[in-house]
Amino acid sequence: MAKKQLMVPATWGVRSSFHSLIALLVAFLVIASIYVTQNSGVLIEDATKSKSSDDLSSRCNLFSGKWVFDNKSYPLYKEKECTFMSDQLACEKFGRKDLNYQNWRWQPHRCDLPRFNATVLLERLRNKRLMFVGDSLNRGQWVSMVCLVDSVIPTGLQSMHQYRNGSLHIFKAIEYNATIEFYWSPLLVESNSDDPVNHRVDDRTVRVQGIEKHARHWTDADILVFNSYLWWRRAQMTVLKVEMPRVYEMALKTWSDWLEVHINRTKTQMFFVSLSPTHQKALEWGGAEGQNCYNETEQIFTEGYRGQASCPEIMRAVEKTLDDLKKRGLNVQMINITQLSEHRKEGHPSVYRKQWEPLKEEQISNPSSYADCIHWCLPGVPDVWNELLYAHIINL
Ligand SMILES: *[C@@H]1O[C@H](CO)[C@@H](O)[C@H](O)[C@H]1NC(C)=O
Ligand SMILES: *[C@@H]1O[C@H](CO)[C@@H](O)[C@H](O)[C@H]1NC(C)=O
Ligand SMILES: *[C@@H]1O[C@H](CO)[C@@H](O)[C@H](O)[C@H]1NC(C)=O
Ligand SMILES: *[C@@H]1O[C@H](CO)[C@@H](O)[C@H](O)[C@H]1NC(C)=O
Ligand SMILES: *[C@@H]1O[C@H](CO)[C@@H](O)[C@H](O)[C@H]1NC(C)=O
Ligand SMILES: *[C@@H]1O[C@H](CO)[C@@H](O)[C@H](O)[C@H]1NC(C)=O
Ligand SMILES: *[C@@H]1O[C@H](CO)[C@@H](O)[C@H](O)[C@H]1NC(C)=O
Repeated sequence: MAKKQLMVPATWGVRSSFHSLIALLVAFLVIASIYVTQNSGVLIEDATKSKSSDDLSSRCNLFSGKWVFDNKSYPLYKEKECTFMSDQLACEKFGRKDLNYQNWRWQPHRCDLPRFNATVLLERLRNKRLMFVGDSLNRGQWVSMVCLVDSVIPTGLQSMHQYRNGSLHIFKAIEYNATIEFYWSPLLVESNSDDPVNHRVDDRTVRVQGIEKHARHWTDADILVFNSYLWWRRAQMTVLKVEMPRVYEMALKTWSDWLEVHINRTKTQMFFVSLSPTHQKALEWGGAEGQNCYNETEQIFTEGYRGQASCPEIMRAVEKTLDDLKKRGLNVQMINITQLSEHRKEGHPSVYRKQWEPLKEEQISNPSSYADCIHWCLPGVPDVWNELLYAHIINL
C-alpha cells in the first residue's frame, strides 16, 4: 500500500523551510497537547504509580521555578574551550559584548537541580548511546551536551564524525565507549526537509506515515531525546485539506506507533523536549513594533509570560501522545523547557552568529531583519535544558 504523501505548496526558502518544519512540529505538539490537556492533572499522579515510586517528577516539579543570576557557577563551560562549538551558536565569538546571558541558573521552586557532573553522566553512558533526534534546536541542545562533557575528557580521547551526508553526527568519549549523537529529522517523520544542509526545496512534501527511514538509525539507542516543533509552526500549512495541528498529531501518531512496536522497554529511556519559544515580535513583551530579540540584554521577568508563537495546542498534543504511550506501557518523559525559556528573550544569537551569505546593505542598516531569535547562544539556555535532562537520566 502506498504511503500517503502530504504535499505542501512550494515557495519556501531556507528560512521558510525552517518555519515549515516548525509548523509541522507545532502541529504535532498541538495534537499531543489536546490529548494531554484532558489528562494533564493526572501526570504527576501517574508518575507515582509507575514502578519507581521515587520518580523525580513526583517529588518536585523541576520545570516550575525561576532564573537566578549566578556568575560564580555559570557558565558551566567556556565557549572558546568547547572543541565542538557551533558557529551558529557561538555568540561571544561573533561579537556579542553583553555576556550575562551565560550566567543564569534555573532554580525550581521546591527543590534544587542536581549539579551537572560530566563524569557521573559519562559513567552512566559507558558502552551506551545517548541520541538526540530532531531539528536544529535539538541540535543546539546536543552541541551543549557535547560541550558539557567535553571539558572532562582529555584531548585525544574524544572523536567527532559525520555519517549519512551529515544527517548523523557522532561524538564519542573513547575511554567510556560512550556516544552522544544527533540525528537530523526535523519533522520526526519523513519529508523532503530531511537533507541536513540543503532544505531549500520547492515542493515541501511530508510523509506523515513514514518514519522507518529515520527510525532505523535511532531505535537501538539507550537514551533517546526527541523534539519537533519549529518546522510545523506555519499556521497556514494545510496539507491535503488537513489543518496543521491535525497533521502534527498524525505525525506523532506515526512516531508513537513506531516506538510501541520497536523500542526495547527495558533498555531504552526516552525523552521529549517540549517546544522552544521564539522571540520575534517585541510588541508581545512591550517592545517596539517591528523589533524582535535584537539588542535585548535582559530577560522577561513577568511571571508566567507566554509568547504567541508557542502554540498551546501543540503542547497539548505532545502531552496527550505521551500520556497515551504511558497507557501502552511506554514511558517518555517530557522535558518541559517551554515556560522557563519563554523568559529568555536575551538568550538568542540575534546578529552574533556566522552569516552564511554576505549581508546586504539594507540588512546592515536594519539588524533586526537578520537577527536569529529562534536558536540559543551557547553557553546558555540549552545548558539548563541539559541539566534538566541530566536530572532525569541519573535519577533512574
Ligand atoms: C510546563 O511547565 C510549566 C511551568 O511549570 C507549566 O505551567 C506547564 O503546564 C507545563 N506544561 C506541560 C505540558 O507539562
Ligand atoms: C558577578 O556579578 C557581580 C554583580 O554584577 C559583579 O560585581 C562581579 O564582579 C561578577 N563576578 C564575576 C566573576 O564576573
Ligand atoms: C563528579 O563526580 C565524581 C564521581 O562521583 C566526583 O569524584 C567529582 O568530585 C564530581 N565533580 C564535581 C565537580 O562535583
Ligand atoms: C561499545 O558500545 C556499544 C554501544 O554503543 C556496544 O554495542 C559495544 O559492545 C561496546 N563495546 C565494548 C567493548 O563494550
Ligand atoms: C548522500 O548524498 C548523495 C548525493 O546527494 C546521495 O546520492 C546519497 O544517496 C546520499 N547518501 C545517503 C546515505 O543519504
Ligand atoms: C532488551 O534489552 C535488554 C537489556 O539491554 C536485553 O537484555 C534484552 O535481551 C533486550 N530484548 C530484546 C528483545 O532485544
Ligand atoms: C539598543 O540598545 C541600546 C541600549 O539599550 C539603545 O541605546 C539603542 O538605541 C538600541 N538600538 C536599537 C536599534 O534599538
